[in-house]
Formats: sequence, C-alpha cells, structure tokens
Amino acid sequence: MFKGVLFDLDGVITDTAEYHYHAWKKLGEEIGISIDRSFNEQLKGVSREDSLSLMLRYGNKENDFTAEEFAELAQRKNDYYLEMIQAITPKDVYPGILELLTDLKTAKIKIALASASKNGPFLLQKMNLTSYFDAIADPEKIAHGKPAPDIFLLAAKEVGLTTKECLGIEDARAGIQAIAASGAQPVGVGQKKDLGENIPIVSDTTELTLAYLKEVWREHE
Ligand code: G6P
Ligand code: MG
Repeated sequence: MFKGVLFDLDGVITDTAEYHYHAWKKLGEEIGISIDRSFNEQLKGVSREDSLSLMLRYGNKENDFTAEEFAELAQRKNDYYLEMIQAITPKDVYPGILELLTDLKTAKIKIALASASKNGPFLLQKMNLTSYFDAIADPEKIAHGKPAPDIFLLAAKEVGLTTKECLGIEDARAGIQAIAASGAQPVGVGQKKDLGENIPIVSDTTELTLAYLKEVWREHE
C-alpha cells in the first residue's frame, strides 16, 4: 500500500487554477499579450516567474522588460490573484476532497502539499484544511520548478517517505511530468488530451476516493 499522498493545490483541491488564469490574462491585456485557455495549459503548475517568462515569450516581448520591470509584473499578477482569493472559504474546496483527506488521515496515510504556489499556506488556511496536512513543501526551497521533480521529492521527504511510497495528484501536464520524474505514482485530474494517455485520470474530484487510489496502487504494483 502507498504510505503518502502528495497533493497539488490549484486545480486539485480548489478552483484557483481559474483565478491564476484570470490574473495572467488581465496582466497580459495590460502589456499587449492576449492569452487563451489553450496557452494557459502551459502555465498550469509552473512557478510565477517561469509563467511570466513563458507569457512574454509567447507575446514576443521577452526582451522588452528590465529585471526590475519583470519583478514588478510578477508582483502585479500576484496582487490581482490575491485580490481574487480573499473570498475563498471552506465551501470552495472541490467536492470529494474533504472526504478523501479525512479517509487518508483515518488510514494513517501521510498527506503533503506539493504546490509551486507561495500562496499555498494562505489558501489551506482559508479553506480550513491546514490541520490535514502533515507537511507543506516550501517552493522557495527548491532549485527547479515543475516539470522537474524537486517539489514532490521535498514533499515526500518532509513526511519521512520516499516518492516510491507515494501517489501524487495533479491537474497540470508539467505536474504529472514532475510526479513521474520523482518516482511517485501520478494520478491526473482533468482530461487525457491535456495530461497524457498513459496515466490514471479522473475527470472530477468526486472520483478521487481512497478506494480509487487503492485500485490505482494495485495496478501500479
Ligand atoms: C501553481 C499554479 C500556477 C502558479 C504557481 C505559482 O503551480 O498551478 O498557476 O503560477 O502555482 O503560484 P504563486 O501563487 O506562487 O504565484
Ligand atoms: Mg495545479
């Protein structure tokens, strides 16, 4: 049996992936870069700075800003995002997630957060979920963001496990790649066209039950 579950946050625990998209879109409009949902798939799971670099490259503006201006743009996006997430409450937790966290706790399976977001701790608090997590991997401590495995390796380590003993749950292609590279077993939330054909995928978080995760693990063993 697996001994730990490493959770992504945005788009897995709650709908904040949507807010990240709207914040990037708003910033993009201000600097003359128009992004759509299809391009946004590339930003999911990717750190704030790397997302901004991707967006500037997409708009052919990668050489238009000084380091200082770049930092201001990243800050501005985060300000928009912070404004959007102030109103988040426990009601915004995706269906099935609280039940899953409760069942994992009862089964003494470790729970860790492996999000690239520096706003992770704040969001868990807003949703009253902090106490379920045995560890929150700090994205400031890792050298490489997703699709590199670093944040999942750190999350497993922080709960005293190896990634081989863990499942990782993700809604982003970069995140699935990071889980696979870390040696944990990926589970996707979303669609095969975005996440890949060869991994277990649920289209809805209500399907993310402990029984389902056990089934995934049996097939993986
Ligand atoms: C997650 C989200 C990304 C976001 C990143 C950094 O990985 O999926 O969309 O860019 O976190 O989030 P932050 O809140 O630190 O800007
Ligand atoms: Mg995500």
